[in-house]
Amino acid sequence: MTERLVLEGGTPVRDEFLPIAKAWFGEEERAEILDTLASEWITTGPKTRYFEESVQHYLGVSHAIALNSCTAALHLSLAACGIGEGDEVITSPLTFCATANVVLHQRARVVFVDIERDTFNLDPDQLQRAVGPETKAIIPVHYGGHPCEMQPILDIASERGLRVFEDAAHAIGARYHDQQIGTLGDTGCFSFYAIKNMTTGEGGMLVTPDGELAERVRILSLHGISKDAWKRYGSQGSWYYEVMTPGYKYNMSDIQASLGIHQLRKLDRFIARRGVLARRYSQALADVPEVELPKARAGIRHAWHLYPILVNLDRLTIDRAQFIEALRAENIGTTVNFIPVHLHPYYQKTFGYKEGDFPVTEDVYRREISLPLFPRMQDSDVDSAAEAVRKVVARYKRP
Ligand SMILES: Cc1ncc(COP(=O)(O)O)c(C=O)c1O
Repeated sequence: MTERLVLEGGTPVRDEFLPIAKAWFGEEERAEILDTLASEWITTGPKTRYFEESVQHYLGVSHAIALNSCTAALHLSLAACGIGEGDEVITSPLTFCATANVVLHQRARVVFVDIERDTFNLDPDQLQRAVGPETKAIIPVHYGGHPCEMQPILDIASERGLRVFEDAAHAIGARYHDQQIGTLGDTGCFSFYAIKNMTTGEGGMLVTPDGELAERVRILSLHGISKDAWKRYGSQGSWYYEVMTPGYKYNMSDIQASLGIHQLRKLDRFIARRGVLARRYSQALADVPEVELPKARAGIRHAWHLYPILVNLDRLTIDRAQFIEALRAENIGTTVNFIPVHLHPYYQKTFGYKEGDFPVTEDVYRREISLPLFPRMQDSDVDSAAEAVRKVVARYKRP
């Protein structure tokens, strides 16, 4: 356990706390929600369908199913493709636990593959070596909104007959060589959680070019029933329905979709603003060798969901947790993305993972801090967060 730091930083760089992330709604979202309430149709219905169509159009993909989370989208990707007991699914350990948990829900085995040092995404060379006879699918995670190196991943998948389910929780609007992230795999799974690049409070979307897969996902998303409630209770509806398979309760409501419709219209502006803020951070911190800054590879559009820095601990007298404490004392909110999945107690106890299994992931984990990044931030907010980093570095620099 890290010792609590005795802070001697003097006056904080700013008076008001700067959170790590914040949603941004306008009159459009408020008016749409009121319209939905006035219509008295609040669960899955016309607004959800319109939101799905808007996402299809934005991404240029033929099928989109709105769900209540990205976790649901990942789970249904596996379930609809029949991935189950005895199968293996490969993903990155530097992700939110949901990516791996859903594999276990299907009674399949998660196989972790370490990440690339510069993007924090699944390393295609190591992936190649990890594919075995039981491997059925790959879940590439587009960490922080930086696209994975998809071409080699897709090549391995097509050579070995594997499914690809993109975990694009951070990455709606990101592009890999002009192709929209989420449209490269068998499915793309997006999150509209409260602090994501666009939000419906809680929510997610599964997109796919495969019509039959889309139909299976839609049925599984609502109890395995062949018709959704809107079709049942609308004026054209019938009381009759059939359960085709024991499904789940994963549908999105029209209240959530009311937010999503307008958030999507603003997405490109949000991403552009995130990019401006990220470049401002990179300029402000370029001459601080005690921190490593995130980079974007050529040929991609970064969605800049996160601005993750790596602290060079050997140049400092404090550890990462103390660095976070010192930033908090400066009124700068931060977080760590992520605690590697293989280091969580359940995964260690059940599968015997231990420290040292995935050295690049663990090195990133020990040193990573995500700085505040959200489109409503002012330039001056970035300046104060960068100043706080410089101040902490100056105070705790190794002599
Ligand atoms: C990489 C990643 N995958 C999946 C998820 C799950 O998303 P949701 O909360 O929409 O289920 C998250 C959520 O934070 C995430 O960061």
